[in-house]
Amino acid sequence: MPIERVFVAGAGLMGHGIAQVHAAIGKRVVLYEPELARAEAGRDRIASNLERAVAKGRLAADERDATLGRIETTADPVRVAEADLAVEAVFEDVDVKTALWAQLDAAAPAHAIFASNTSSIAIDRLAAAVGDERRAKFVGMHFFSPVPVMPLIELIRGSATSDETEAAVRGLAAELGMQVIASADRPGFIVNRILMPLLAEAMRGYEEGLGSADDIDTGAKIGLRHPMGPLELADFIGLDVCLGIMRVLHDGLGQEHFRPPRVLVELVEAGHLGQKTGRGFHTYPSG
Ligand code: CAA
Repeated sequence: MPIERVFVAGAGLMGHGIAQVHAAIGKRVVLYEPELARAEAGRDRIASNLERAVAKGRLAADERDATLGRIETTADPVRVAEADLAVEAVFEDVDVKTALWAQLDAAAPAHAIFASNTSSIAIDRLAAAVGDERRAKFVGMHFFSPVPVMPLIELIRGSATSDETEAAVRGLAAELGMQVIASADRPGFIVNRILMPLLAEAMRGYEEGLGSADDIDTGAKIGLRHPMGPLELADFIGLDVCLGIMRVLHDGLGQEHFRPPRVLVELVEAGHLGQKTGRGFHTYPSG
């Protein structure tokens, strides 16, 4: 069955971008958060992304309006009943995600595909929250931030995921103009397995006084041609998110290079989560 109606759970950094790219290719999107104001804030973020594209002459004003017109917000999870695909991009916590998936499973139509945007949690662990039939339709679909700029999807099959589900996700990725890479259902999948040791090592260097945050970031930007330095990138992803991913990698794989650095744990405990709180390894003026 073609995917025309998409339910996106979570309107944060990833969720709003996922909603945007689907609406941009003509899908009808319902953007869900348990608090309506948060869903609306996600839609406002999409509106300002589209506005920037119009201002740069990359998008016509009527396309902006049409894309926004395809995105509805809701605080009612039962709206998943209208969906061909549900994408979950909520906080990276296994209990939060499994509780939501169980709730969605009860309301979604039998044909709906369930895709988690988890960045590190095993797909089989999440799929355990849904009924036997749905497990064949449960898959990992991991996007990268900023979603409208990063044309990559990591596709992770669980042990029950069907060939039809994989084919449907690949077909959708082609419509989105995104490249698919297939990862085994192992901690951190492919990209975070590569990225997190880099971020952790930059943090350990910072912790031991190897260089300032600016110099470490400039080293990677100019010396390695990375678009962002590792500390700046960690602030952008969210330090709480990075900590969660490193813990999954360290617990699951054991190697020391995945161990979360002390400075990261301390920043998160102090509530300094990066760009979203205005302070992490760097500081960010409000707005
Ligand atoms: N949403 C939509 N579009 C955005 C955007 C956003 N949040 N931020 C930037 N853009 C667009 C801009 O509009 C601009 O588009 P045009 O070139 O068409 O005009 C383009 O991206 C470049 O933006 P800027 O010129 O403002 O800034 P830049 O050149 O410094 O690029 C960046 C910004 C794209 C974010 C770049 O710094 C970059 O690629 N950074 C690395 C991002 C990265 O590594 N992401 C992966 C994180 S890991 C992850 O997501 C997975 C996980 O599980 C943790």
